[in-house]
Amino acid sequence: MNKGLYKKSTLLFIFLSPLLTISLTNNAWAEKRWYTDNQVAQGKPLYTQHCSKCHGENAEATPDWRKSDEKGNYPPPPLNGTAHSWHHPLPLLRLTIRNGGAKFGGKMPPFGNKLSAGEVDSIIAWFQSLWPDEAYKRWGSRGASQIPNLK
Ligand code: HEC
Repeated sequence: MNKGLYKKSTLLFIFLSPLLTISLTNNAWAEKRWYTDNQVAQGKPLYTQHCSKCHGENAEATPDWRKSDEKGNYPPPPLNGTAHSWHHPLPLLRLTIRNGGAKFGGKMPPFGNKLSAGEVDSIIAWFQSLWPDEAYKRWGSRGASQIPNLK
């Protein structure tokens, strides 16, 4: 980056960060979703190919996601906003998909070697497009680390 541009973007950042803080605490930014329609469109077939057999065609599986089996394993939870995924900031959602669940004693396979970072983001975009505004807002109120490119 050339120096002038660098200076400009630093200034821009200094100027924008109070605004950002205000909008985060007001939760206003959550009204506007972070992803584009293109990402949602790209994510859908990828989701169907890689995720639907466990998480359901419309990310609705498994309704009884709180109940573990006799071995103590949990079923794939719904990703449609009805379950737990709104607790997880974006970086954690990305990590879960890239690394799978093994680190947390889970069963989900890792996708880091099958999907690019952009593809992972588009899948997240697709299943978040199913979330009702309430779920999305709750998710959004959980911190700045959730805003892509800002961590
Ligand atoms: C073989 C079955 C299987 C496949 C395929 C699979 N998952 Fe999972 N997923 C699980 C299970 C089981 C869990 C619960 C945690 C665990 O056991 O690792 C889970 C958990 C998750 C979570 C954490 C959700 C939460 O509420 O904590 C996310 C996000 C997720 N999966 C996304 C995906 C995406 C996106 C794909 C496709 C790229 C995918 N999964 C493919 C089985 C699967």
